[in-house]
Amino acid sequence: MQQWGPGVDRLRIGVVGVGVQGQLHARALRDVRQAELVAVADISSRNREWAETHLGVRAVPDVGDLLDEVDAVSVCTPDHLHEDATLAALAAGKRVLLEKPMALSRASCDRIIAGRPDPDALMIGHVLRFDPRVLRLREVVRSGELGDIWHVKVWRCTSQAVGEGIWDRTSVAWFLGIHDADLLRFVTGREVEVTGAVGRKVLSPSHDVVHATVRFADGAIGTMENNWTLPHSRPSRADAGLRIVGEHGILEMNLSHNDLLYARRDGVASFMDTYFWPGRDGGGAYNLRTELEAFVDAALTGGPTPVSGEEGRAAVAVVEDVEAALAGDPPPGN
Ligand SMILES: NC(=O)c1ccc[n+]([C@@H]2O[C@H](COP(=O)([O-])OP(=O)(O)OC[C@H]3O[C@@H](n4cnc5c(N)ncnc54)[C@H](O)[C@@H]3O)[C@@H](O)[C@H]2O)c1
Repeated sequence: MQQWGPGVDRLRIGVVGVGVQGQLHARALRDVRQAELVAVADISSRNREWAETHLGVRAVPDVGDLLDEVDAVSVCTPDHLHEDATLAALAAGKRVLLEKPMALSRASCDRIIAGRPDPDALMIGHVLRFDPRVLRLREVVRSGELGDIWHVKVWRCTSQAVGEGIWDRTSVAWFLGIHDADLLRFVTGREVEVTGAVGRKVLSPSHDVVHATVRFADGAIGTMENNWTLPHSRPSRADAGLRIVGEHGILEMNLSHNDLLYARRDGVASFMDTYFWPGRDGGGAYNLRTELEAFVDAALTGGPTPVSGEEGRAAVAVVEDVEAALAGDPPPGN
């Protein structure tokens, strides 16, 4: 029976996969007023014990074991397992928040999309869409103030220490580039065509650094740079940002800072106030909390999903094309 929707004031949620990201979801859920974390599912007994000890909730091995007691789930399993857990929860009539990347191919996205009883039952966790700086930048770009967009650069680079923990099961493009694929589409409102990609294997058997080139339908061009080659000694583990150069100005966002620089060609430059960290301990969980609040609010009000499966699929298509370009294969096509 569908237990969420207008009239219900609290969403009972289960987190599926309580590894690095699932633990963040579980912790952030405690800050979401209308959400109650009631259970987690994880195949790892160590992670189940962690959840029982630190979250005080029931921990079960399989998603199927918690569906009876929740209204919704947050799927935080490894990328290649997103489809199974999501389809199981959707089939049981649950709302699903699915971590990025939605899946590892257009075909897998299509199966997930086909499994939705209602398009709003599924939300993709593209967390950058909940970053106030991204939203402000998007507002300026979408207002047309920049005039024609000439070129864009997006980059997301992380520490070798992060890469070492995951490069046997994901790739730079799937782990980092997926954020940028979505960001480019989200802020510009334009579809992204991958025109090429080069990569180098310097630390691991996979491409540790990837530079991709993209084109937009209106003629704008761009680059996407992703790597996990930053040395351990770098004080900040992440270097990520976005620059949009247009006819009337340039917008730059560096995720290492709290401000958005807006320097216009007419001579006016300003740092827009987009400060949003609630405290030093909040970390990236703040945007995540906003994402979770949006998910819960949409479920409780019966509102539209904040990030649809179709949006998730479009980002997956970009990364699938980057991977094809790296392999020297033709793009899989839509
Ligand atoms: N939004 C972001 O910025 C962000 C950041 C990191 C990771 N992620 C995404 O979150 C997801 C999880 O990544 P992670 O780094 O936490 O991985 P992880 O390996 O740390 O955690 C995955 C967890 O899933 C569990 N698991 C595996 N198979 C399972 C199954 N069949 N049923 C239940 N649990 C199962 C594992 O035991 C593990 O605890 C990935 O899709 C990743 O891309 C998103």
